[in-house]
Amino acid sequence: MPKLWSGMTSGAMDEAAEDFNRSIRVDSRMVREDIAGSIAHAKMLAAQAVLSPEDAEAIVAGLEGILSDIDAGALQIDPEAEDIHTFVEQTLTARVGEPGKRLHTARSRNDQVALDTRMYLRGRVETTVGLLKELMRALCDRAEEAKSMVMPGYTHLQRAQPVTMGHHLMAYAMMASRDLGRLTDAAKRMNVSPIGCCALAGTTYPTDRQYEAGLLGFDAVAENSLDGVSDRDFCVELAAALSLIMTHLSRLSEELILWSSWEFKFVRLSDAYSTGSSIMPQKKNPDMAELTRGKTGRVYGDLMALLTMLKGLPLAYNKDMQEDKELIFDAFDTVDACLTVTTPMVGTMTFLPDNMRRAAAAGFINATDLADFLVGKGMPFRTAYKLTGELVAECTAKGTTLEDLPLEAYRAKSELFDADLYDAINIDNCLLRRTSYGGPTPESVERQIKIIRELIK
Ligand code: ARG
Repeated sequence: MPKLWSGMTSGAMDEAAEDFNRSIRVDSRMVREDIAGSIAHAKMLAAQAVLSPEDAEAIVAGLEGILSDIDAGALQIDPEAEDIHTFVEQTLTARVGEPGKRLHTARSRNDQVALDTRMYLRGRVETTVGLLKELMRALCDRAEEAKSMVMPGYTHLQRAQPVTMGHHLMAYAMMASRDLGRLTDAAKRMNVSPIGCCALAGTTYPTDRQYEAGLLGFDAVAENSLDGVSDRDFCVELAAALSLIMTHLSRLSEELILWSSWEFKFVRLSDAYSTGSSIMPQKKNPDMAELTRGKTGRVYGDLMALLTMLKGLPLAYNKDMQEDKELIFDAFDTVDACLTVTTPMVGTMTFLPDNMRRAAAAGFINATDLADFLVGKGMPFRTAYKLTGELVAECTAKGTTLEDLPLEAYRAKSELFDADLYDAINIDNCLLRRTSYGGPTPESVERQIKIIRELIK
């Protein structure tokens, strides 16, 4: 195809340079937004008497025809076109003639691409928000089931204090709720229309930017034309929000990998989300979780590349910015793919509560509660802490647990001990007594579930 911009230059490009310059492989997914934007532009130009009503009608009908032909598979996007804007405009002119050549009045690809990208990403945010909500729903459902399944809570990956599987899963639902907030917040700031900024310096035509923005569902228009065409903050903000989603998915994945190992055996992953080994017949591998953990770096990379791409760019548009779409699209694609497998993997995994309880019983996770028992009898916490530590060491040496240590052994350490201590260090009691707000009791977890379910309603 001849270059849209041939005139001053011949447009006869070196083949490799032409391909290097091309963005159609990446931006053809914005065809819908490009057409919607052009329809609104033609309507605005007609309303302002820049275009005749007949020309505008021909343009709108032509654009609608292009879209329906693409949807019907009757028109293929030309992979040799320079970019999607070029393809749509050239196809339009080929179909409707002269009026097609008038569409690009009071517009530049610089404001056009910024417009298309914002509109396209609006849709992507909606999809990802939907996927996040599904994950939150699954976490709530599973947490409800597991709100009484006692397991060790960890610090330093050492058994620490009793929690439940339900409490643990709800921690991830809380992370997802912040992710959701970040995405919708960034989307709000993104919903500002750049169209009408033109190449960089606005236009001499009597355009109505507010009207055009309104047709396209924007809340406002960019106030400064140089900023309007060169702002890619929204890509960075979204990539940052997506990076944090990946951080959270990666941490969850790591836990699923640990929990499904022979060493933990807290959960069994469904066969539908596991793979086998080509050599070791006994293997069941958590590949989905590992891939999610592994893909986290890609999204961080997209964020870093976006930031680096923008750093040091003079105003206004520079071709460097064509890189934005490949990066932010990849980030969305990756996050959506990870959410799409993580949610049902969480939804279908089998809990193994007996193993959780066995782990909870073996790790002295009631030691804090034993110290607290002594504090209840009047001993200062620091003294109780030390004495309890000695008892744990004694149990470890004898190969026993605090629950099985006889009362005489306790009383040899302190007269404050009596038979009530066994009640105080019973694992279930240790859990049920942690009634502080946000804690691990089933009631507290239920409250958390309610909050999240309210949020995603
Ligand atoms: N394909 C370009 C991009 O993605 C469109 C804008 C081109 N503008 C220009 N002045 N060359 O950024």
